[in-house]
Amino acid sequence: MNILLKLKTALLVFLFILPLQGWAEGYSNSFLHTKHKGHKDNSSDSRRPVRMTKEMGEHQLKNMRGHLEAVSAIVSAMALKDFKKMEKAALRLASSPKMKMMCNHMGNATPGFTKMGLVLHTTADTLVQAAKKKNYKVFVKKLSATLKTCTSCHSTFKQKILSKKALHKYIMQLK
Ligand code: HEC
Repeated sequence: MNILLKLKTALLVFLFILPLQGWAEGYSNSFLHTKHKGHKDNSSDSRRPVRMTKEMGEHQLKNMRGHLEAVSAIVSAMALKDFKKMEKAALRLASSPKMKMMCNHMGNATPGFTKMGLVLHTTADTLVQAAKKKNYKVFVKKLSATLKTCTSCHSTFKQKILSKKALHKYIMQLK
């Protein structure tokens, strides 16, 4: 139970407090630096751009919300110690040809992005294995590892929306 409590606290920090902090920073920044609007107005934000079109960006965020729903389902199943449910929920983050295709697509103009996405899914595979083996302790460890892949990508990348033409031009120049 103790582990679950710790996990819940960590999740709370991850899901609510950190985004709020980011929001607060952005808010004060927009006050302080209104002159530089449209430029890199937050010097403490060193995240790299993941270049995509508006449609790709919306699709990516939808996928992300799905990932968070999966995490929520995982933690609910853990509270019940229901290994079948834990496995089923973990499968929503696991590797699949569809996931691979999606990560390749989203990262096609951003070296390193796809790789980080794939690490999330292969780490989630180990989560599925732990559920299959009904090993709660290992499951908790693997969930922690999985969440770290979320947070490390979030601190590395942020979306940058480009027109289709600009994105294509950028991809051609990468080759
Ligand atoms: C390969 C990189 C990567 C990984 C891995 C990743 N994310 Fe994201 N996520 C992003 C990016 C980029 C954004 C957009 C951030 C921005 O532009 O400020 C985002 C945004 C989000 C959002 C906000 C969605 C919205 O509608 O605004 C949620 C929620 C989220 N991610 C959850 C997760 C969870 C949960 C995981 C792990 C299970 C995860 N992400 C793993 C890159 C990633």
